[in-house]
Amino acid sequence: MSTPHGTGDPGGVAPQAANRHLQATAHRHLWLHFTRMSSYAESDMPVIVRGSGQYVYDNRGKRYLDGLSGLFVSQIGHGRREVAEAGARQASELAYFPLWSYAHPRAIELAERLAALAPGQLNRVFFTTSGSEAVESAWKLAKQYFKTIGQPSRYKVLSRDIAYHGTSMGALAITGLPGIKEPFEPMAPGGVRVPNTNFYRAPGFVADDLQAFGRWAADEIERAIEREGPESVAAVFLEPVQNSGGCFPPPPGYFQRVREICDRHGVLLVSDEVICAFGRLGYYFGSQRYGYQPDIITFAKGVTSGYSPLGGMMVSDALMEPFGSGREDISGFESPRRAGHTGGPRPSGTATFLHGVTFAGHPVSAAVALANLDVFEKEDLLANVRANEGGFRATLEKLCDLPIVGDVRGDGYFYGIELVRDKATKETFSDEESEWLLRGFLSPALFEAGLICRADDRGDPVIQLAPPLTCTQEHFDEMEQILRAVLTEAWSQL
Ligand SMILES: Cc1ncc(COP(=O)(O)O)c(C=O)c1O
Repeated sequence: MSTPHGTGDPGGVAPQAANRHLQATAHRHLWLHFTRMSSYAESDMPVIVRGSGQYVYDNRGKRYLDGLSGLFVSQIGHGRREVAEAGARQASELAYFPLWSYAHPRAIELAERLAALAPGQLNRVFFTTSGSEAVESAWKLAKQYFKTIGQPSRYKVLSRDIAYHGTSMGALAITGLPGIKEPFEPMAPGGVRVPNTNFYRAPGFVADDLQAFGRWAADEIERAIEREGPESVAAVFLEPVQNSGGCFPPPPGYFQRVREICDRHGVLLVSDEVICAFGRLGYYFGSQRYGYQPDIITFAKGVTSGYSPLGGMMVSDALMEPFGSGREDISGFESPRRAGHTGGPRPSGTATFLHGVTFAGHPVSAAVALANLDVFEKEDLLANVRANEGGFRATLEKLCDLPIVGDVRGDGYFYGIELVRDKATKETFSDEESEWLLRGFLSPALFEAGLICRADDRGDPVIQLAPPLTCTQEHFDEMEQILRAVLTEAWSQL
């Protein structure tokens, strides 16, 4: 991720001396993630100290519109006292106990609530603390599941070009970004790449037909499975809307076709919804928006809106089968939140999933997640996204009159704007131009202008927006105005 390093308003709330001390300490001791630390050699690091609603404030009191929800996280916005208090209450009651052999009430309640919200029979929740751990867990579960049911040769995972699925070694092997993998080669074996659904850059023979493009991209998954040998493939990992590369929505019918392919070859479909769940696309889960049924959903980020870290995976009853249910005498039990969803035989196996992490399903995070979901319900945030997403799209599409804007794409509150050197030919920027444009100019200039968003060139250069789900037209207009001014200036300097 490119990093802003603007200096903002000189006259802020923090006295100059305190800021100097904070900066000196940060420069000496703090290591920022995915950040070229040398880029701060001559400048201050931005220090964000407070958030309220759709805005955050730096240590000099300057306000920024949080157009990225931090990092696709702050669905309900900042500064919600009731969510913070739910965490504090839980910390005083039971701050910590592991989910290794024990349960605690908030994890139980949250698992039930998530099962009620998820599509189909995804009734079992395995908690983690992050998205990478969720992805890692899903791959490990797929591998152990197949070993347990007598298909031990299935271990490979398919994922899409330039898709990001996390940074731990397993998740990194699923990630499709060569640039962030190369320093850590060799990868865990088994990662296989297939095409993504970037229709703007579709191959010529399907460039004019979205449906045909989607069918081709899905069929490429089948070709990869056949090429690798179906008996060696465990799972396909796909995001509902692919983030990296700049928000690629699925063409109509794409996921239905992928589901058929997975079923035909006995391969699991994992919907990586670390970004796309919890309202980002106007539904609790992205798979619900596009009408497909995953075998596993991975989630993190928006489940707590960032008030405390949490991730996890939702697993189908069928996948749970070899691992048992715990109690046979609850077979008549029907979860009140899941009325009409349960039924069928309870899982009866005796295998143990040999995986876990200390802080998974942390009581404070689980309490915070429940309070977060209360806010979703009370304020009907999904309805807000569905009602306003058309306005968001239309407002961003106004930018298409700028010569540098090649494409605006996305769904819900999740958009990418692809920047091009030549609109007519879709010619992109050279590496040097892109370096100057994104890191040298846009990131600091957008930050300086009061907008937090993402300027990214892991694929072709894009700006990404994923604001809190509480945003309305006034916030879209603010984003558009800042982007228009900064992109116009960038073009004039190119
Ligand atoms: C689709 C997807 N999967 C996994 C991850 C990794 O999540 P985390 O950073 O919480 O480990 C991310 C992070 O952005 C993501 O977007």
